[in-house]
Parts: sequence; structure tokens; C-alpha cells
Amino acid sequence: MTTPRMMQIGRDDPAAIQAEAAAELIAGLSATPARVSPKYFYDALGARLFAAITALPEYYPTRTEASIFARELASMAEALGPAHTLVDLGAGNCEKAARLFAAFQVRRYVAVDIAAAYLRESLTDLQRQHPAIEMLGIGLDFSTSLVLPAAAGQGPRMLFYPGSSIGNFAPDEAAAFLRQAHAACQGGSLLIGVDLVKPVDVLERAYDDALGVTAAFNRNLLRHLNALAGTNFDIADWRHVAFFNRDASRIEMHLEALRTVAVRWPGGERRFAAGERIHTENSCKWRIEDFAALLVDAGFRQPRCWTDERGWFAVFAAHAGEDLAPPSALSASRRG
Ligand code: AVJ
Repeated sequence: MTTPRMMQIGRDDPAAIQAEAAAELIAGLSATPARVSPKYFYDALGARLFAAITALPEYYPTRTEASIFARELASMAEALGPAHTLVDLGAGNCEKAARLFAAFQVRRYVAVDIAAAYLRESLTDLQRQHPAIEMLGIGLDFSTSLVLPAAAGQGPRMLFYPGSSIGNFAPDEAAAFLRQAHAACQGGSLLIGVDLVKPVDVLERAYDDALGVTAAFNRNLLRHLNALAGTNFDIADWRHVAFFNRDASRIEMHLEALRTVAVRWPGGERRFAAGERIHTENSCKWRIEDFAALLVDAGFRQPRCWTDERGWFAVFAAHAGEDLAPPSALSASRRG
């Protein structure tokens, strides 16, 4: 039986990872205003709560993106051509990528995710269903640096980044990420899901649903912080706040103290006044022309996009352009 290959990039010592996370979390909690990276939403319960969010009637992105892929897959494959090597960024359960295998004639599937243990399980299942596809799982936090190992294959790669996860990046960070994606695809292409600007009431309902699942997802972060950083947050002291910030074109999520709160952790503490907030997530919403320009600035050529009837979500595709850097020893040797 074929089994997927697995590798880990960066830290793989659990104690070192935990120490690094604790230091980052304490720094964010000590800042004014306090902040925590949205990557900490996804402990085991947080991942399940996010899955529940995607099933909510108010949360349109997942469903809308899926409908665009279902309808436009053939036209996307025609525009981009075959993608013998498919690199899935934030693969998770690998479900979205598996739907591309046939249309893009995928021969090698490289699944990248920060959660390597879960990825191994998903890939092992998928390998059974697709024995002819060579599969590699890479445990990597690509949010800071997207450099793929040679084992991901030589020649052009199609990078797949669905779900509008790019929305967690501020525009300048998104630009830097796309430049790294351009280098990492080795003359290949990019297929990426992007959530679009739309009426504020639709946006705000999607991030503050009637059942309170998004509130639970946000407040669950405090449990995860208690586990990772040794804080003593009481979830009952905090409420979920989500709103659209028009100037920054983004949904912001915060946790707001309902009363004066003193939080302690090994070696430190912080007081929050009633009404004071911890900023937990930004989810940027793009306009089609602005995102297309961002792709071009990053070196991609002739971006195309497919959208739904309401124009709520877009899937962009683009080929990597010629190396835009002036000829130099470095770019020449990279090309050779
Ligand atoms: C996983 C970052 C795409 O921003 O819509 C959903 C996360 N947060 N509800 C998003 C999220 C609250 C989601 N992304």
C-alpha cells in the first residue's frame, strides 16, 4: 500500500513550540491594545467550532466558494492548464483540493498545514482513494515564511489557497505573502479564494451569528490561552464583538471585558478595565480590481477571476510572470 510521505519544517520539538507560543501570547496580551493572533483559534475544539461556523446560514464564504468551484472547475482548468504538482496551503482535511485532482490532472499532491498530525490522518485516507497520486505532507507555519523544500518537486507548481484565509493578512502582509507565493510556484500558477466587500449587514451577521457559534469560537480562544500560556481567563468575563471597519475594509473580532478583570500568568499579570478589548482577528474584504492589482504587483500575469451571482466571493487564478527582478547572478542561477 502507498503511504504519504511526511516532513516537518521549522520547529518540531513540542516543548520549544509551546515556549515560543507562550512568549508570543504574553507579548500580545501585555500590549495596548491587547492582541492575539487568529492562528490560536484552532485548538481541537476551535477547529470543530470553525467547521460548525461553515455550516451556519449566515456564514456565506465557504458555501459560496464551493458553488463557484462546482460551477467553474472546467473553465478554471482550461484557463490554467494542467497542474501536475498541486500545493495545498492550509490543507486541513484536504477535501477542497481533492475536488481539483481530475480536472487539473494532478500527479503530485503536496499538502501543507501547521497541524501536521491531523494532516497525516487526512492524507493517509486520501492516498487510499488516489493510489496513483504521489502525496507529501509538510508540517509548516507558512504564515511567516512560505519557502517549500525541494521535496515538493521541481518544475512548475500550482499553489492552492482557498477559503479566503488571505483575509487574515493586512494588505501589506498579503502583498508580501503573494510575492513569496510567486517565488514558491516556480513559474507555475496560483488559485486563490478571496472574500469581497458587500453590504455591511451581511458581513456583520456572518461574524456574529444568531446561534452564537462565532461567539463561542472567539471566546474559546481564552481556553486555549489558558492551556498555552498558563493564564487564568474566566470565559464568563468576556463577550464577543464583531464589526465591519469600513476604513480598513475588514471585519474585526474582539473580546470585550464585561467587568474589571485581572489576568495572571506565570511571571506576570494584566488588568483590563470593563469595556477594554483584546483584538483577536481581522478578516479583510477585497474589491476585485484591488486584488487583481495586488496579484500583478506580486509578479503574477493576467489574473482572471470567477465569482457568484451576488458578487460576494471570488476565486482568482493567475500564472507566474517572468522574473521581474533585473538580471543578477541570483536570478540567473535560480532560473538555470
Ligand atoms: C478562516 C480566516 C477565512 O475570516 O472568515 C470565521 C475565520 N473567523 N468566522 C474568516 C473566521 C470568524 C475565517 N477564515
